[in-house]
Amino acid sequence: MNNIIILGAQWGDEGKGKVVDLLSDRFDIVTRYQGGHNAGHTVFVGPKKFVLKLIPSGILRGKRAVIGNGVVLDPGALLEEMEALGRAGIDVPGHLAISNRAHILFPFHRLVEKVSEARADRVAIGTTSRGIGPCYEDKIARRGIRVADLLDTENFRALYASLAQDKKTLARAFQIADTIDYEKARAEYEQFAERIRPMVCDTSRLLNEAIKTGQRILFEGAQGTMLDIDHGTYPFVTSSSAAAGGACTGAGVPPTKIHGVIGVSKAYCTRVGGGPFPTEDGGAAGERIRKAGNEFGAVTGRPRRCGWFDVPLLRYTSAVNGFDSLVITKLDVLDDFAEIPVCTGYRVQGRVTDEVPATIGQMEALDPVYEKAPWWKGSTRGATSYDSLPDGAKRYLDYLAAKVGVEIGCISTGPERNETILMPDSRFTKLIG
Ligand code: GDP
Ligand code: IMO
Ligand code: MG
Repeated sequence: MNNIIILGAQWGDEGKGKVVDLLSDRFDIVTRYQGGHNAGHTVFVGPKKFVLKLIPSGILRGKRAVIGNGVVLDPGALLEEMEALGRAGIDVPGHLAISNRAHILFPFHRLVEKVSEARADRVAIGTTSRGIGPCYEDKIARRGIRVADLLDTENFRALYASLAQDKKTLARAFQIADTIDYEKARAEYEQFAERIRPMVCDTSRLLNEAIKTGQRILFEGAQGTMLDIDHGTYPFVTSSSAAAGGACTGAGVPPTKIHGVIGVSKAYCTRVGGGPFPTEDGGAAGERIRKAGNEFGAVTGRPRRCGWFDVPLLRYTSAVNGFDSLVITKLDVLDDFAEIPVCTGYRVQGRVTDEVPATIGQMEALDPVYEKAPWWKGSTRGATSYDSLPDGAKRYLDYLAAKVGVEIGCISTGPERNETILMPDSRFTKLIG
């Protein structure tokens, strides 16, 4: 089993960074396939904390790291991240490859986003304010500028002039105070181009060549399935294909070369930003989860909305992605809860269903049906074997796996690498080799 996709099964921040870091030891290459520096993947290596935004987490293990064509790249943010990692002794230039087909994110993308988020006639999405959506808009509208275009100076200047003109017109039309110095930004991006040039290549070709020689590739998803542009809670989503299918288009690797898909889910549920969240607990219990789980955004520092494990949601994301196995993270956060509700169905007009509705109105109108799930006394923090878990915690995990209909192959019991349980004889252990 060579090539595996690992991605979020909820609304992001499930602990993908920790899991990818843990597993990347067994792979040759780790690649990102979508998103941009809206992602924040936290990895602890001993006392050192890293928050990876654009660079695949495998970089910390000295693995080849690839930024695929499906990613939107803010070169300033990338260089900053590279410098921070360099200061921590991580050699990024020697290991990173950047797709020549990835789209470039410019300062005016942030401006466009600010405008659209502030409009009185629209509901704000609660984005990360990084300009991610508007950059993907330009990509899909076929006026975007890719890394390869940036490296071709003459061509870049013409494309940039035209795109900048669009944004100036937009700013005028919407009466926005446009403070961007377009010429300065262009010159700055031309300098960025020279700094990233040595790392740029056709990464699809690189990955497919690597596959031919039997190297193992780990695809690291950003965000989560419920933030996927097609399958998430539209319009409260990000603008890319975070689900498993996105790995093929976003890395240029055929579906026939993917051998497994692993979903990462918290033992409960969180969401950051706006949008429906059926199992949100806006009361004291939600606050307790936030405190115990330190649920604050890795990128923006915003408090995350907290709530309970949602079985219909997991069944939905399992179907969309075809999860072979689940990783359940942050089990330890529920250690002190003597009551753990789990949503097992949605009541819609008196009928209970597990169908996730398509519209925000329908999603907000549904009534989650809760069961009292098994709970436990004692600590799971740092546990490294299933057998050492309190009985109730074992029953909780078995209960989740049975309800979702997917095995739990790995359990995370703390933020550090070694605070993990790998389930022997699982599909998970076969997949990771
Ligand atoms: P990602 O975006 O999916 O990589 O997740 P984030 O890094 O944004 O958020 C997950 C947070 O939970 C990070 O602060 C991790 O260090 C932390 N974390 C991951 N796994 C565990 C766990 O099993 N227990 C606890 N207590 N924290 C964890
Ligand atoms: P990782 O990879 C959680 C959310 C934002 C907002 C919506 C759209 O760390 O799991 P965007 O800036 O992408 O246009 O914002 O998506 N969002 C995330 N939530 N984790 C993330 O990344 C996220 N990236 C974007 O909060 O609701
Ligand atoms: Mg995150």
